[in-house]
Amino acid sequence: MENLQNKNVVIAGATGGIGHALAKLVKNSRANVYLTGRDAEALKRVAKDVGISSDQTYVLDITNHSEVLATAEQINQATGEQGVDILVNATGVGIIKPLDDLTFEDFSNSLDVNLKGAFSLLKGFVPGMKKRKQGLIINLPGVLGKTPMTGASAYAASKYGLNGMLKSVREELKRTQVRITNLYLGGTDTAFWDTIDMRVQRDKFVTADEAARSIWFLCQQPSSGVVSEMVLQPFNHQAI
Ligand SMILES: NC(=O)c1ccc[n+]([C@@H]2O[C@H](COP(=O)([O-])OP(=O)(O)OC[C@H]3O[C@@H](n4cnc5c(N)ncnc54)[C@H](OP(=O)(O)O)[C@@H]3O)[C@@H](O)[C@H]2O)c1
Repeated sequence: MENLQNKNVVIAGATGGIGHALAKLVKNSRANVYLTGRDAEALKRVAKDVGISSDQTYVLDITNHSEVLATAEQINQATGEQGVDILVNATGVGIIKPLDDLTFEDFSNSLDVNLKGAFSLLKGFVPGMKKRKQGLIINLPGVLGKTPMTGASAYAASKYGLNGMLKSVREELKRTQVRITNLYLGGTDTAFWDTIDMRVQRDKFVTADEAARSIWFLCQQPSSGVVSEMVLQPFNHQAI
């Protein structure tokens, strides 16, 4: 296992349930953490809870491509010659509605955050990693990036797209020592589900802490190879 001490770890979406829990684990492993979130107040609360200075937090709307590039540049500068070792993209929006209720705006928003936002992060961080010939990028396509579900047309479109994009980029990065890991998570009990109108058993879901632990584990994967993918889903709902 790789030690996280002094590694530079960026967590985009640190204000979310999984991102916040991960930030604590990574900070406790003595990594230097750089956190982004869209909600400035929530980001302040997370930074306080995790115990990092506001210098290492960045308010960022991932749907704004030039803002993502500018933030990535700031973080690349802040990490100096060592650069960013690990990027975890824990941003995401869960728009789950049947086609009858789904609007064009819903569909676009899903793609803007879950797919195009992830693309912007790649554009911001991959060049530095390629130059240094090292880096690990972890994304969370979720099981709905591999299998369909009623009401998930917008979400699955974004996550299947994410899956395809990352696997294609992986082909390009194979010889650069920049590694890509995809975590296919099933239902995880976070605020993600608060606005979703669907009967689910949240008490049977994976907890945010345990989902974060699986990512923390992936951050420490052996450097001689790559964990290309991992699946973690609730016992009672094994979708893939
Ligand atoms: N929960 C699940 O069941 C589950 C299952 C499979 C995969 N996943 C994936 O896991 C990841 C984390 O989900 P979660 O459960 O932790 O959800 P969450 O608690 O709702 O957190 C979502 C995060 O995404 C950020 N975000 C949303 N829109 C954004 C935007 N336009 N710009 C920047 N950030 C934005 C939120 O930032 P603010 O709060 O600051 O707005 C928040 O940090 C997502 O990719 C999700 O698709 C979740």
